[in-house]
Amino acid sequence: MAKIVNSWNDWDPLKRVIVGRCDNSMIPPEEPATSEKVPVDSEMRGMWGLRPLRTVERGNECLENLVKAVEERGVVVDRPTPLQWNQAIGTPDFRNDSMMTCMPPRDILLTVGNEIMASANSFRCRYFEYLAYWPLMKQYFDEDPEFLWTQAPRPRLTDASYKHNYYDEKITLEERLVRTANKDFVTTEVEPMWDAADLMRMGKDIFIQHGLTTNRTAMEWFQRYYPEYRIHAMNFPGDPYPIHIDATFVPLRPGLIINNPHRHPAEGQRDIFEANDWQIVDAAQPAHDEPPALCYSSVWLSMNCLVLDPSTVIVEASEVNQQEQMDQLGMNVIPVDLRDAYPFGGGLHCSTADVYREGECLDYFP
Ligand code: NVA
Repeated sequence: MAKIVNSWNDWDPLKRVIVGRCDNSMIPPEEPATSEKVPVDSEMRGMWGLRPLRTVERGNECLENLVKAVEERGVVVDRPTPLQWNQAIGTPDFRNDSMMTCMPPRDILLTVGNEIMASANSFRCRYFEYLAYWPLMKQYFDEDPEFLWTQAPRPRLTDASYKHNYYDEKITLEERLVRTANKDFVTTEVEPMWDAADLMRMGKDIFIQHGLTTNRTAMEWFQRYYPEYRIHAMNFPGDPYPIHIDATFVPLRPGLIINNPHRHPAEGQRDIFEANDWQIVDAAQPAHDEPPALCYSSVWLSMNCLVLDPSTVIVEASEVNQQEQMDQLGMNVIPVDLRDAYPFGGGLHCSTADVYREGECLDYFP
């Protein structure tokens, strides 16, 4: 039987990957932790329902572009099985009028070595999203005797998991930044809550963004779950909507990270990189002034790239500045048209989840 699951970081040679699907995607109804994360001027405020079919088809076309680009380079691609996301859901603790999507996989699945763990997301509408990946997990389980199929402790997501009255429509950008600087986020600490896209895996070290989607209790949980790894909290005080580390602090290869120029790490959090001679370079300006329509994310999806190996990277086709910078940094750049998939939850890195990268668990910060 073959080894199917193995990945310790975001840059070792990629051999197998999951790419999401846009089918049946919803704009979810408002719930305690979501309004905080939708920019005040977003056209999506107050809106919910099925995403327009044409945009779903176009999003799927973009994902097919990505599938084709990686398959041409010998990477095996697996796809989730979408559910009918417009169903209402309930648990003993909450009811929600719909689910959301199975985009992007990066938020739901965390691969560490031979283990894939489904996350403990703070959005109620994402509570059952992991089910779209269960057929793949079963397949890996049947075919790879070393594969560890794991589910993180499920959060209850009762009202106690959120700060109520945290969000107020009149809150200014400056006030938001003060909250980020004070590490004052909408989730409470009653249970571990985390999105997998807040974690950056670097062999023996795992860096976790503390923000609107991941709390400190999750970091404490990870440190106990993985006693042999070093867990580091990261904060980015320049980000008024701190969600997911992969449009903020993105490694390209050992020793090199591109950093969103508006979101530098909090004081002291660069030290471990500098002490080990890592270069942290400000990312190039995005090519666009605005995200596409009905998109939750910022223009900084420009830096949300998929590294295929330490010298090859896929960058979104319209992000010419980011492509040029990657080229200057010594990377071979493969452009892929993916922008119309952004509204479904993110860019190239978001749209994927690692299954297999060649390589082993190394200590990059001895
Ligand atoms: N908060 C991030 C999401 C990145 C995937 C952004 O929109 O910049």
